[in-house]
Formats: sequence, C-alpha cells, structure tokens
Amino acid sequence: MVAPEKNIPTIFAAFGATGDLMKRKVIPAIFHLYEQGELPTRFRIIGFSRRDWSDAEFQAFIKEVIEEHRKERISEELLAPFLALFRFQRGYFEEPKSYEELKAAFDASDREWGVCSNKLFYFSVAPEYYEMILRDIAKHKLAEACAPGEGWTHVIVEKPFGMDSKTAKSIDELLGKLFDEDQIYRIDHYLAKEMLQNILTFRFSNNLFELQWGGRMIESINIRLLEKIGVEKRGPFYDGVGAFRDVGQNHLLQMLALMAMDVPENFTAEEIQKKRAEILRALKVPTHREIKEQTFRAQYEGYREIAGVAPDSTTETYFKVRAQLEHAKWRDVPIYLESGKRLGEAQKEIVVTFRHPTPCLCPPGGSHHKNEIIIRMEPQEEILIEFWVKKPGFSFATERKEFRYLHRAPKEHVPYVEEYAKLLLDCVRGDQSLFISTDEIRAMWRFTDPILDAWERDATTLHTYVPDTKDVSNTAKV
Ligand code: BG6
Repeated sequence: MVAPEKNIPTIFAAFGATGDLMKRKVIPAIFHLYEQGELPTRFRIIGFSRRDWSDAEFQAFIKEVIEEHRKERISEELLAPFLALFRFQRGYFEEPKSYEELKAAFDASDREWGVCSNKLFYFSVAPEYYEMILRDIAKHKLAEACAPGEGWTHVIVEKPFGMDSKTAKSIDELLGKLFDEDQIYRIDHYLAKEMLQNILTFRFSNNLFELQWGGRMIESINIRLLEKIGVEKRGPFYDGVGAFRDVGQNHLLQMLALMAMDVPENFTAEEIQKKRAEILRALKVPTHREIKEQTFRAQYEGYREIAGVAPDSTTETYFKVRAQLEHAKWRDVPIYLESGKRLGEAQKEIVVTFRHPTPCLCPPGGSHHKNEIIIRMEPQEEILIEFWVKKPGFSFATERKEFRYLHRAPKEHVPYVEEYAKLLLDCVRGDQSLFISTDEIRAMWRFTDPILDAWERDATTLHTYVPDTKDVSNTAKV
C-alpha cells in the first residue's frame, strides 16, 4: 500500500515506447510494481512513438511483452486493469506539433483527475535523439509544473552518459540548463542491486568491519564483473563502446565508490551522492606509463565475426585495470577493476583482502594467512568472511574456514526487473540516493578518459583469449 503522502497522481511518459529497454526492463518492472501495489492509485503510462497505433494496439503490445517475460498467461483480472494504465500518443521526436499533442494529453489527464499530476519522462531512444527531445520538452513547457508548488517533473536518463568527458559534459550541460539537478535521475542499475545497497548496510551498521576499513588493515580490493554471456546481438552498439566504457566507467566505479567512500554525515540522498563523488574524485588519473603497466585489455576469439562488429575491430571485450585512490585512508591500496564477456561461469563480486598479521601463526615456509571478505552478486547473493582456525588435534596445524551469509537464493532474483522496479519507484517518490550525480559522472570520466585514449592510440595492447574459459582472468597481470 502506498503511503498517502507518496500517493500522488503520476504520468510516466515513455519516449520510444516500443524500444528494447522498455521491453526488457521498464514494462516488466512497472508490472511488478503494479502487482505489489506500489504504484500511486492514479498512474498512467503514455507511450510516445511514431507507430500508427491506437491505445488498444499499444495495450496488446504491452500484454505480449508481459506474457513473454513471465512465460505464462496472466489472469484477466490482474491484466485488464494494468493494461488500462497504458495510453498511446503518436508522435515524431523531430516534430514540434507532437510535443504540443503530448502536452494536450497531459492536460487532459490532469483535468480528468482534477489535479496537477507529477510527470516522469523516460527515454528508450538512441543517444543521438537526447538533445532534440530534451530541448523540445523544455521548449513546449512539458517540464514545468502546472501550478506553483504542485506536480514535479523528473527526467530519467539511461547510460551511456556520453562516450568520454567531452560528450558527457555537453549532455550534462544541456540537462543542467533545462532542469535542476534534483529533477535529473541518471540510471546505473548496479546501484539498485540488493548486494550493492547491502555494502552500505554492511559497512555502516557494523563497527566490527568499518573500524578496519582502509589501507592500514586492507591490502587490496578486487572488483569483478565476469560474465558468461557474450556480446550476443548487441554487436553494432558494443563495438563502438567496448567493455571498459560499457561497465568499467560506470558499474565498476560505482562499486568502488561504495566500498571506499567515507561515512556520510547522514544517509540522505544528497550526502550519499556527495561522498560517492568525493571518493571518485580521489581516483588517481593514470600517467601514460602507469597505463602501460597497470592496464590490460583483450578480445575473445570469434568476436569479430559477430554481426555489426568491424572485421578488424580492436574493441576490448575484457579488461583489468589497477586503480589507486589519492586519499589518506586508501593510499597504496591497489584496487583491481576487472570485467569481460564469455568468461565461462558468471562471477560478480568484490573481494577485500586484509593484510596478514605480524607475527603470523602461519605454517613455516608457507604463505602468510590473510582474511578475506567477499561480497558477491553472482552466482549467488552472499557475503563470505574467511578466517583461519586451529585444526583439531595435537599438532598446531591451521585451516581456512568461512562464515557465509546467503542473502537469498538465486531464483528469488529476477534480473533487471527488481533493479528497475526499485529505480522507477525511487523516481516516483523523489529519492535520488541510487542515481548518479553530475559530479560523479565527471569524476568517472576523468579517470577513464586517458586509459581509453591510450588504448585507442596503441592497438598493440590488445590481447586475445579463448572464449568460455577464465584463462585470461587468471593470466592478466597489472
Ligand atoms: C549493462 C551492460 O549495463 O550491464 C551489459 O551494458 C552488461 O553489457 C550488464 O551485460 C551487466 O549487468 P548485470 O545486471 O547483468 O550484471
């Protein structure tokens, strides 16, 4: 049940209503929220696209998407009122008249409801349309509240946030000109993952760990997003982007931020974003020499045969990068960022390795005992704490043991739906904690730009690897 103060009539305007992101993520997530009773009582989705569709045709499309996603027929009782939330507005992104018609559709809903509703804009469109759409939304006053203090407008922006600092800056400047920062919701779906939110709980609700957090006790941090899947049908997009831009510049750096950020003064969205931005700004910008020694990139064999991939492509499908933080607490703690496609089994986790004790009660001549904490998203959501104990018996032998906390079984997590449901709900409720601020965007590109530049200039740095094995991950040295 939605709390009365959050139960504000809301219109969700989806540009590119039939796009891939809508089908795979947004529509299933809205359905999930509907089923859970989390949407405001008066909620309407207006799909905006060039197709010549009626409301009924749009609703038939939505039904298909939901049934395809659930792999089952859904009862009419549940489906019919859900589909009734969807309206269709034919329009062209480049045509001013279409925006006037959309505004008229907003006004009609507001009149019907007798209120000035909240408006949420979502774009499932190619990035080259962003500028045109944003300008037209502002120009046609679609983003303005209908009465002072009544009804806000939020815009949801999907990654990629540019291709480098320069392009990201121009999108951000445009957004900043047209909207206030508290209206802009930049999505990184990793922030909405249960285990990423759990990082803050784990760190800041348990002094047992937080007091040890930092370079005095921690030797290194490994952040891994190793995927089983390949590039699949995303060749044309992926080939122009590569693994580092696709997941390194955003998801991995956000994981780093959550792991290393200082405790915020309070847990408001603003303070959390501020602390994430601060630590991201502390990322040392690598010199040319450091890039040579501390980064590694590779492409899997067979990648160039994928439709939409250039036959001589030098795009990386795997990378490992050693990052450092210029921060008193983290100086000299290497942070390894690693990700790749077609690496055998999926392994998505953060491993914190603690320094070994001195003197150490370790076997003579053997390696020193260390503790590890692993926060894992896949293959299952869990936290592991590894430690050493004495083996029962007369001799003083030691053995490695672990405490394991299973957050939930893998089948309880429907990929993307849960993350998008959480993100959309936060947009509706006006909570920006799980969204990226403009300061974070800048800081992330500041670190990634020189690496991407150097890789682009020096093609000899590209290695190859055999798909569906972890060989490259085991051998890449940085
Ligand atoms: C996306 C990338 O942002 O994240 C994909 O574009 C990648 O290439 C995906 O596969 C990984 O997300 P998840 O939630 O499946 O770990």
